[in-house]
Amino acid sequence: MPASRPFFVAGNWKMNLRLESARGLASGICDGYTPQEDFWCAVMPPFPYLPAVAEALGNGPVALGAQDCAPEGDGAHTGDISAEMLTDVGCKYVILGHSERRQHHGEQSPLLQKKMERARLAGLTPVICVGEPLPVRSRGAHKDYVADQLVSLLRDLAEAEPEGSRYADFVVAYEPIWAIGTGEVATPEQAQEMAAQIRGDLTTLGTDWADTVILYGGSVKPGNAQELASQPDVDGFLVGGASLKTDDFLSIITNAREGLA
Ligand code: PGA
Repeated sequence: MPASRPFFVAGNWKMNLRLESARGLASGICDGYTPQEDFWCAVMPPFPYLPAVAEALGNGPVALGAQDCAPEGDGAHTGDISAEMLTDVGCKYVILGHSERRQHHGEQSPLLQKKMERARLAGLTPVICVGEPLPVRSRGAHKDYVADQLVSLLRDLAEAEPEGSRYADFVVAYEPIWAIGTGEVATPEQAQEMAAQIRGDLTTLGTDWADTVILYGGSVKPGNAQELASQPDVDGFLVGGASLKTDDFLSIITNAREGLA
């Protein structure tokens, strides 16, 4: 990984934990995390726990993120959470287009474009998720599939924004659906191949986007973090299951640093 790109490890807590365990996890991560230059760390708890986790994180080096935001601004949208509200409670990041939202809530690029716009206006950094299901991988169409996801989400933004666009300020997470929560991790070669591919796709979309931070997600664990982190185009991880245990999450960070050394 060139020195120009940071390494970023983010914990996606999904719909897990209770208030006290969320607080405890955040405090444990804070206590055990050693900041390092060009290394970013964030946790993304469920919405109701954001203020408590923000308090536990304080002004320390571990940032706060949310798992989604509404495609609209504040107003008559019952049950939605606006990007502005997320900024208000201390969020820096927001995950958009996670495969669980694409699959279970039918989210597609037009909606995600609106969410991205809202996130940008609120000053959040979107973490855009892309990744193919198993049948697509099995027939060898994963590169085109992921390129389509990226292009359909970002093309209009790339055209609308001049060079030096603020939209360069986003993160992409490559998460093959067959590796999420399954224990089946992509090989380091597969992760590298797709991260490089995504970097190429981004370069064709926006000249300033080649240095976008590209994460790998899907069954990242302490045991595979080092080798995955050593891949030149993998700039970090979006961690699900293993981010729910303080020791595992901190070990992923430690082992990733060894992979970068
Ligand atoms: P996992 O989830 O680490 O449990 O596979 C990753 C994710 O969905 O972000």
